[in-house]
Amino acid sequence: MEQQLNALRQEAEATMAQVAELESLNDLRVKYLGKKGVLTGILRNMGGLSPEERPKIGMLANQVRDVLEELFSLREAELKQKARADRLGREKIDVTLPGRIFVQGHRHPLSLVQEEIEEIFLGMGFQIAEGPEIESDHYNFEALNIPKDHPARDMQDSFYVTEEILLRTHTSPVQIRAMEKLFPSLPVKVICPGRVFRKDDDATHSPMFNQVEGLVVDKGISLADLKGILLEFARQMFGPERQIRLRPSFFPFTEPSAEVDVSCMLCGGEGCRICKGSGWIEILGSGMVHPHVLRMGGYNPDEVTGFAFGMGIERITMLKYGIDDMRYFYDNDLRFLRQF
Ligand code: DAH
Repeated sequence: MEQQLNALRQEAEATMAQVAELESLNDLRVKYLGKKGVLTGILRNMGGLSPEERPKIGMLANQVRDVLEELFSLREAELKQKARADRLGREKIDVTLPGRIFVQGHRHPLSLVQEEIEEIFLGMGFQIAEGPEIESDHYNFEALNIPKDHPARDMQDSFYVTEEILLRTHTSPVQIRAMEKLFPSLPVKVICPGRVFRKDDDATHSPMFNQVEGLVVDKGISLADLKGILLEFARQMFGPERQIRLRPSFFPFTEPSAEVDVSCMLCGGEGCRICKGSGWIEILGSGMVHPHVLRMGGYNPDEVTGFAFGMGIERITMLKYGIDDMRYFYDNDLRFLRQF
């Protein structure tokens, strides 16, 4: 048996030196040292040994096992190291390949213009206020003095969620929310940018578009304040030469109401294709805040007055950049977007 054990050791040592794969090495380990391996096979005959021989052989068997285990581990480390070196040798970097081009993104024209509008009003002491896009009938209509039979409430125009809840059709409800929040402090001086929704879809109307609302409430606010602030806005937005004019109009939430025109930025007022020969271009709706609206916001219309305005960001952007179809804003055509 002593011979058998020594032969086993030699054979195992020789074969493992020839093995080149980790997997085959493992197979060998199982073959020689595994539960049903060669070593176990030899030891099965221990029963036929004399009592003096038994411990000697047992010791030798343990020695052989220990040595072989050690050799297997060493060989395994060697093969692993070799595999790693091979892999590194195969990985090549071609430094002559052209580099990857990273195209830098940038902001959407509507975001740029919204930010520009915000900057102008922040510069005049306004705060930014926000409200929810899913709005109640109360804030979107009722508190703004829009009567039940007003066409704006029609299912044709508004996206209703339930009878009382809808997607806001304008940013004007944020006027009420801002007043409720700021009451009783004065002045209230906020702009409210945000998305609005209407059942509209053509070259100049989209079912989703963006507005900026403005609201100023204080003691002694007059139409002159409205005109002064909006003239300053028009000049910062469209150029220092611009003039504005107020045209009488109607909105339920303002009294009196006015539409504001800016002198044409293309022809300067001479009359051209853009201003359809009139020299003026409408940019927003505005007016003195209706007493009902002030009251709904918590303020006393006998003590304070205010003005409000609302403009479409798409419209301002189209005028500023000479864009003639609103749908460009939402198509995400890079040839369009890259121009800004
Ligand atoms: N809410 C109006 C709209 O969506 C715009 C508007 C007009 C807002 C006059 C105002 C305003 O604050 O005073 O068409």
